[in-house]
Amino acid sequence: MQPRKTKEQEPAGSGASQLRQGTAVVIMAAGKGTRLKSRHPKVLHEVGGRLLLEHVIRAAMRVVAPDDIYIIVGHEAERVRKAVAATGVNFILQEPQRGTGHALMVAQKALENYSTTVVLSGDAPLITPETISYLIAFHGSKHAAMTLLSARLQNPTGYGRILRKKAGSSEVREIVEEKSANTAQRKIQEINSGIYAFNSKALFKYIGNLKTDNPHSEFYLTDMAAVLGKAKLRVLSVPTNNPHEILGANTRADLAAVDRELRMAKCHELMASGVTIVYPETCLIDSDVLVGSDTIIEPFVQILGNTRIGVDCRIRSYSVISNSVIGDGVLIRPGCVLDGAVVGASAVLGPYSHLRPESRINEGAHVGNFVETKKMVLGKNSKANHLTYLGDAEIGDDVNVGAGTITCNYDGVYKHKTVIEGGVFIGSDTTLVAPVKIAKGAYVAAASCITEDVPADSLALGRARQIIKEGWVRDKRAASTGPKK
Ligand code: UD1
Ligand code: MG
Repeated sequence: MQPRKTKEQEPAGSGASQLRQGTAVVIMAAGKGTRLKSRHPKVLHEVGGRLLLEHVIRAAMRVVAPDDIYIIVGHEAERVRKAVAATGVNFILQEPQRGTGHALMVAQKALENYSTTVVLSGDAPLITPETISYLIAFHGSKHAAMTLLSARLQNPTGYGRILRKKAGSSEVREIVEEKSANTAQRKIQEINSGIYAFNSKALFKYIGNLKTDNPHSEFYLTDMAAVLGKAKLRVLSVPTNNPHEILGANTRADLAAVDRELRMAKCHELMASGVTIVYPETCLIDSDVLVGSDTIIEPFVQILGNTRIGVDCRIRSYSVISNSVIGDGVLIRPGCVLDGAVVGASAVLGPYSHLRPESRINEGAHVGNFVETKKMVLGKNSKANHLTYLGDAEIGDDVNVGAGTITCNYDGVYKHKTVIEGGVFIGSDTTLVAPVKIAKGAYVAAASCITEDVPADSLALGRARQIIKEGWVRDKRAASTGPKK
């Protein structure tokens, strides 16, 4: 998808944004993520098989149109922009990054004509569209200047704590960050999720009052609670039903915790739809994976990317399947690796098969132990069961590929194709030097090196004839004086 023009790229005074109403969603993604100790920007780290930022954008896109979503980019802005440009959202550059409050200051021009500005955090990927919509509805119905999503956490360490005007009141007086909190405040378990709805007019009227008198010398968006309170405007909090969905990923341990949440949620979604997962806590299944009902996934399986698996399959332990399409009733025995493969119904793979990109295993075919495939088709009910390499090959139906067969597809410069037509029998330990074609119904004798095309229904032998020298060993023994005893 072609990225749209960002608001910052709109010609000055075009007037287009003057007419905007409704809700804008801002996703803050300009921070470095110092606590990850990474060479890569925080929001480009992956959880559940997707970028942190991608999760948040997807949730936002189910609430407002991409045109009303603004990503604040700063640290490694170009990389972040490129990684999610296909979603069609807008980008706003925050340079330098002087805090979450500053991020909103630089976005003022793009946002001030929306009636409501919703702020999401690029590092809190579990937020759901339902919760965002609920926050917007609650905020709108209470006519608040600022509504923040709160949560009660067993361990609130690291999060901003919520101080109320009065105990039991829903009005917020102040948010105090971990580093500035005193001992009593640190005991408060109600935390700020970093997710807010603002009345845009109030936000931008008072955002200039933010100060940098904090340990990081940054403009904190959290201080807007106290700023708006001083202006006698309403600041409310609304608790989430599910405190897990506001988890932020600031450290590697946080990333692991968020990833675990997503993986378990995915397993539960699949189990609810009729998939059996044995020991789900050991399986890694990416968010976009689809699996049909009555399929059984054994312990320690990884199913990644946009893999699709049919019904009634069995995926045995230690298999890693990426970006592949598996038909119905397929058996994948232990230890298989599939990447970009297509497997037809009732096929049997493994143990220890390696299907590389553009492998197509048709219905009922078998690929066995230590067989590697790449850019090839194995026809219906054909078998390659043992110790074989099949690359750049087109293999018809009902073919038997004997143990240890190798397609010699590479001449050191170019790749060449091997064609094996239907009903062919390839004896064990055959090397097929491509380009070469074995026509319909032909037989290739074991241990042949085939360099020329084989016509249909014929037998090809490409090996030295066996010689027997009778009595040779006996004669040698007799002639030998042998070692002195
Ligand atoms: C923030 C909140 C804290 C809350 C927590 C929830 C502040 C000061 N604190 O803390 O109250 O409990 O989130 O997860 O807001 N970012 C920018 N520009 C900047 C700085 C940060 O875009 O100049 C982005 C970051 O990339 C990140 C998000 O804002 O995606 C939040 O920043 P982060 O540094 O993670 O804030 P927290 O310390 O988690
Ligand atoms: Mg954070």
